[in-house]
Amino acid sequence: MDHCHVETDSEDELPSNWEERVSANGFIHYVNVEKNQIQLNHPRTNKMKRVPVELPYNWKKTVDADNKVIYINELENRETKTDPRLAFSQEFANDKLRQRFDSSTKAVSILYGKNLTGQVALVTGASSGIGYETARSLSNFGCEIIFACRNEKVTNEKMKALEVENSRAKLNFIQVDLTNLKSCKEFCDKVKLQYQHINYLILNAGVFGLPYYLTSDGLETTFQVCHLSHFYITQQLSSLLNENSRVVIVSSESHRFASLPALPLTKEILNPPPAKYWSMLQYNNIKLCNILFAMELAKKWQSRGISVFALHPGNLVSTNLSRHWWFYKVIFAAVKSFTKNLEQAASTTIYCSIADELKGLSGLYFNNCYICQPSKLSLNENLATELWNLSDEIINEILQKT
Ligand SMILES: NC(=O)c1ccc[n+]([C@@H]2O[C@H](COP(=O)([O-])OP(=O)(O)OC[C@H]3O[C@@H](n4cnc5c(N)ncnc54)[C@H](OP(=O)(O)O)[C@@H]3O)[C@@H](O)[C@H]2O)c1
Repeated sequence: MDHCHVETDSEDELPSNWEERVSANGFIHYVNVEKNQIQLNHPRTNKMKRVPVELPYNWKKTVDADNKVIYINELENRETKTDPRLAFSQEFANDKLRQRFDSSTKAVSILYGKNLTGQVALVTGASSGIGYETARSLSNFGCEIIFACRNEKVTNEKMKALEVENSRAKLNFIQVDLTNLKSCKEFCDKVKLQYQHINYLILNAGVFGLPYYLTSDGLETTFQVCHLSHFYITQQLSSLLNENSRVVIVSSESHRFASLPALPLTKEILNPPPAKYWSMLQYNNIKLCNILFAMELAKKWQSRGISVFALHPGNLVSTNLSRHWWFYKVIFAAVKSFTKNLEQAASTTIYCSIADELKGLSGLYFNNCYICQPSKLSLNENLATELWNLSDEIINEILQKT
């Protein structure tokens, strides 16, 4: 085969007499039809590739009258003899993670060619901004979405809009108010009644720049909404997660400006009184907690094969996050044309949820759809353990009172 004539300069062009085929488990193999020779390596580049195990959404495999395999795109009503998964092949020989996407990548580019039928994503805060775009993108590729949101009216409107876009969308609103642990408990009980398994637990909901405000459980709101309730929900839903599940936690690059002391961490630091509260600093601290939680959870659930990732979606992305102060609204609006749009802002969440190359990995932080080194403090294992223990203690105290 070394002597085969190469007709074009395309790297992946096959020499004559060679055909590319896909096995049932998604590995591409190359067949020399003249010599009846089969191999996994590309005959010219020596690369090994695989494709998604499932056919892309809307595609069906069948056989024609001559017993030849054909692929039908049910949406576009067209058929082909070429396996449509071949358009989405990925190299796998290299055990290092390659950067395939960047800051401009849209969620749809990551999902292209995927079929998420039969899979379930639970997205907190899916009624607005990045969470909504995450739910929308996954749903458009067949994934069932649990909208874990508090505002029924707004969520129903958003779900209707998605159903107009995709009449086959599977969407389910289950109400949760993250300022209240009892609501979180009831929410988890309902989820467990309706579902046996969750593939993607996407902890996205958040608040930013709030005036000091206590929740009905008596905690500072940013701490409870962005960290504690998500921590609690994750544990409550543990039985629905297995080695095919990923927990994806939306943090922020602002974690780098956190001021949590390395140790000892106290309840007062996490849940400060009004005199010690500055909304920006509290947000940064709690976004650090998101990464610390991800790291500790990854460690605790390593033996279960569950992947846990934290991520930054983008800077000053125009969403409702700035709603709590006119000044933030002005800033977010002023920079809108220079920052990621929603489709780009959802892409790192989507990447962490579905990228095949992340299988078997856990305890990582991502930015722009690629691994990123988080702050030194977020890798402090003692701090992560301390946060876990304090979060448990605070939850137990609240539950005992109610
Ligand atoms: N936008 C950015 O530039 C940026 C940058 C870095 C990180 N992030 C992170 O990205 C995530 C998504 O934020 P976003 O920008 O998309 O903001 P957003 O548009 O304000 O969305 C936040 C979502 O969280 C929900 N939420 C807030 N409080 C809740 C509660 N008590 N119970 C249940 N749901 C609650 C909101 O629901 P309601 O509408 O009912 O309040 C909304 O659906 C957040 O974790 C944020 O920290 C955003």
